[in-house]
Amino acid sequence: MIFGRWFGRWLSRCFIIGLTCCLLVSCSIHPSVKNNLRIGTDQTFPPFEFQGVDGKLQGFSIDLIQAIANAAQFQIEFQSLPFDGIIPALQAQTIDAAISSITITEERAKTVAFSRPYFKAGLAIATRTDNKEINNFASLENKKIAVQIGTTGAQTAKNIPGAEVRSLDSAPLALQELVNGNVDAVINDEPVTLYAINTGNLQGIKVLQKLLTEEFYGIATTKKSPYLSLINQGLNTVIENGTYAKIYQKWFNATPPILPEKSPYANQGKNILNSQSLILQSLPILLNGVLVTLQLAFLSVFLGLIAGSLIGIIRLSPTQILQWIARAYIDFFRGTPLLVQIFMVYFGLPAFVQELGFTWSLNRLAAGVIALTLNSAAYIAEIVRAGIQSIEIGQTEAARSLGLNPVQTMLYVIFPQAFRRMIPPLGNEFISLLKDTSLVAVIGFEELFRKGQLIVAENYRAFEIYTAVAVIYLCLTLVSSQVFSRLEDWMNPIKKTTLKE
Ligand code: ARG
Repeated sequence: MIFGRWFGRWLSRCFIIGLTCCLLVSCSIHPSVKNNLRIGTDQTFPPFEFQGVDGKLQGFSIDLIQAIANAAQFQIEFQSLPFDGIIPALQAQTIDAAISSITITEERAKTVAFSRPYFKAGLAIATRTDNKEINNFASLENKKIAVQIGTTGAQTAKNIPGAEVRSLDSAPLALQELVNGNVDAVINDEPVTLYAINTGNLQGIKVLQKLLTEEFYGIATTKKSPYLSLINQGLNTVIENGTYAKIYQKWFNATPPILPEKSPYANQGKNILNSQSLILQSLPILLNGVLVTLQLAFLSVFLGLIAGSLIGIIRLSPTQILQWIARAYIDFFRGTPLLVQIFMVYFGLPAFVQELGFTWSLNRLAAGVIALTLNSAAYIAEIVRAGIQSIEIGQTEAARSLGLNPVQTMLYVIFPQAFRRMIPPLGNEFISLLKDTSLVAVIGFEELFRKGQLIVAENYRAFEIYTAVAVIYLCLTLVSSQVFSRLEDWMNPIKKTTLKE
């Protein structure tokens, strides 16, 4: 009777949840009605597309697409995306078009369609004002260069012999690397670097006059998109009726140059490498990333174990103030996102030290390991504390009555027993840390996930590459959990004796 009622309630709940899920899914499959275009944009590229102090999306491209929408009579729904995610999002049709200062290139035109060019730009080299060594493209040889991932700047930097290229998620982050002294130069779209310097946001940086390339930006849509002609029609209108010139004047205080009427690479054929060969081709690069991931995870867990054990023991100390410090440490590092901690260590700390008047920069491995160690130490400290507290007080009393002092008691009696109990949660911690290493990609660290992103930024085959990356992570975590359960068995005195017998 009771079971029947319970089952009925359970069934009706499942039904309601199922219905809600279906509604949500169907909403997200068809979010746009006709004439309501989802426009993707990476909002970190002032003065083209960025968020102002009021948090509103603004910029040259934003004004332009709004003018185009007015002229061609469609509505816009903006979607914020990382730059290297824009072309994959178009392929997946989660957006209908993208305006994001995307340079029309032959390679990209194989995957997406472009409107007629709407802006003429070019790549420029930025260095620190006191740098006398770098004065042209050739002098970038063997230098450290920061770029935004997936951009034409990144593509150009790849061709510099001996250069160490760091790819960051956004142009401002790449420029911040230069300000912090972590790199010698940045290759970026000239108007963007100039704007950052002119608005006073970037100090101690200069731009070399000679441009490396001439590039045209286009609005991207999927191949054969029904919206492409609508967008082109709107763009033609705003160029002809003078609105384009007004917007140009507003943002660049100049009259616009004459723009070509057609995209230079219209109707390019599609990429046709099959999935299997694509993955096989990418495997060596991904495996290279695995080595870096493992290096990061092992170093951080090892150091985290030392630091965490100390903090865990301090947390149990009889001195109130020490207890309080350990608690504050754990609360801070457990209570703030790891991503924020990574940014704080890598970008924040050197900037702060430099503001104090010292020159200091952190290398990426050190920054990654420090951030991951600080974070994992907080979790490990709690594991250690719980482990130690789980050992019966009788053990301490027995050890003390045998004449061992408190340190010896901890070292030879309590800790070894507690350690065995700590192995399963430590295994969990190692596995989460292994996955969390992917967050270090934000500082341009080329571990497994970043290697995947870099490959996708070149060939736009997001599905195959990210699936391969996920499978590799899965293999790593499965192997780790096997290793930890073996370790647990091996350290279990009961099983050990039965095995011997
Ligand atoms: N024009 C360059 C390119 O297409 C950089 C564009 C970056 N845009 C952005 N919104 N972050 O590769």
